[in-house]
Amino acid sequence: MLLGTQKINSEGHLEIGGCDAVDLARRFSTPLYVIDEEAFRARAAAYVEAFSSRAAIAGASAQVAFASKAFLSKAAAKLAHQERLHLDVASLGELRLVHEAGVDMSHVTLHGNFKKDEDLEAALDLGVGLVALDCFQECRRLSEIAVARGARQRAIIRVVPGIEAHELEKIITGQNDSKFGINVENGEALEAAKLCLELPGIELVGFHAHIGSQILDVSPFETLAQVMVELCADVRDTTGWTAGLLVCGGGLGIRYKSTDEPPSVEDLAETIVGGIRRAADQRGLTMPTVGVEPGRSIVGEFGTTLYEVGPIKTVPLGAGETRTYVAVDGGLSDNPRPAMYGSEYPILLANRAAEDPDTTVRVSGRHCETDTLFPTVRLPSPRTGDLVAVLATGAYNHTMASNYNLFCRPAVVFVAASEARVVVRRETQDDLTARDVG
Ligand code: LLP
Repeated sequence: MLLGTQKINSEGHLEIGGCDAVDLARRFSTPLYVIDEEAFRARAAAYVEAFSSRAAIAGASAQVAFASKAFLSKAAAKLAHQERLHLDVASLGELRLVHEAGVDMSHVTLHGNFKKDEDLEAALDLGVGLVALDCFQECRRLSEIAVARGARQRAIIRVVPGIEAHELEKIITGQNDSKFGINVENGEALEAAKLCLELPGIELVGFHAHIGSQILDVSPFETLAQVMVELCADVRDTTGWTAGLLVCGGGLGIRYKSTDEPPSVEDLAETIVGGIRRAADQRGLTMPTVGVEPGRSIVGEFGTTLYEVGPIKTVPLGAGETRTYVAVDGGLSDNPRPAMYGSEYPILLANRAAEDPDTTVRVSGRHCETDTLFPTVRLPSPRTGDLVAVLATGAYNHTMASNYNLFCRPAVVFVAASEARVVVRRETQDDLTARDVG
C-alpha cells in the first residue's frame, strides 16, 4: 500500500516526492518525518474544491480550515494558507506559530475547553477571526476581555450534538458525556446563543461541533447537519437572529489498515453540504456558510517516518516457539499512538521495498520500556542497518512527539519534485538541556 506520490524505484527503494528514502535517511539522519508536500497540497486543494463547489450549488459558501493539531509547522501553516484554507489552533503556542508563519489571522479560529485569559487576550491582540466558545463562563470572560479593549470579537459556540462517531474511544467528542462544548438536547446551546447575542464585545457568527476522529462512515455527519440546522432554526425562532456559519468539525478517517475504507472528501462534502441544505430547506433557514476543519484526512496519509534498524534478537517463547524483536531508533517519543490507541500503520523496508514480506517480527522502539510499535508484522527478513518506513504518520505524530528518555525529536523534511528541505530541524542535545536551570 503506497500513498500520495510514493513509488518503488528501480533500485527497489521507496521514493517519496521523487526523493529516494535511503538518500533522505543518509542526508538527514533518522528517525525522520518526511512529508509529501505535493500530496498534502493536493488534498488541501481537493477539500476546498469539494466543499466550495457543492456549497455554491446550494447558494452558499464554504470555509475549510486545517486543524493544525494534526500537523503543525510554519511550512504547513503557509501551505494551508496558500491553498486558501483557514487554520484552527488549540493553544497559545499554536496561535503564535501560525502568526509567525505569516498567516492572515482573520482566517484563524482559536479552540480549547479551557482558554486562559492570556489565550483570549492573545486572540484579540493578534486579531483572530473566530474564537470557539466552549462554555458559559468563557462567553462571559471573552466579553469582559473584549470590552476592556474596546473590541468586538467574532465567535462561534461549540455545541455538543449528542452524536457518537468514532473509531477509538479516547478520541470521541460529540457525545453528551463530554468535557467539550455546550449541550444541544437540554436547551443549553440555545441559552448560550441568547447570552452571546446580549453580551457586549461578542459578535456571534454561528455554531461549531466536532463529533470525533478517524470516522470511517459519513452517516453521523448527516445526523450532525440535521442537529445543527435544527438548533439554528430554534435559535432564529426564539431570537430572530440567524447563524451565518455552521462548522461541522473534522474527523474524516484515513486508511491505516488494508481493511479501512474511508469515505472520500467528495462523499463527506456531499453529505455535509447536502444534509445542511435539505434540513435548511425544511426549516426555511437561509443557507449558512458551511465550515469543516479536517486535520488527519489532509495530511495523515502523506507523512512517512523513517527509522534505522538496530539490534535484532530472537527470544524463546516456550514450546519451541520464538519471537524476533527488531529494534528501531525511535518509538514512543516520536509516535505515541500505538501505545495510546493501539494504532496500526502500513510498514515496509524502504531500502528493500520490492522484496517479499516473508518474515513475522515484532518492531519495537528504543525507549526504556516496552514501546512496541508493531506487535506482529510481516517484513522481508530485517537486517541491522535496514531502513524501516512507517507510512501514514503525517497526522498526530510530529505534533504528539515528546522528549521521553531525553531523546531528540526528529527533523521534519518536506519533499516535492525530487527536492527535500528541512522545515523543522532535528532537536539537539543542547536543546534537550537548555530549559533545565538547575
Ligand atoms: N476540530 C476539533 C475541534 C478537534 O478537536 C479536532 C481533533 C479536529 C478538528 C480535527 O480532527 P481530525 O480531522 O484530525 O480527525 N490524538 C488523536 C486525535 C485527536 C483528535 C482531536 N481533535 C489521534 O492521534 O488519533
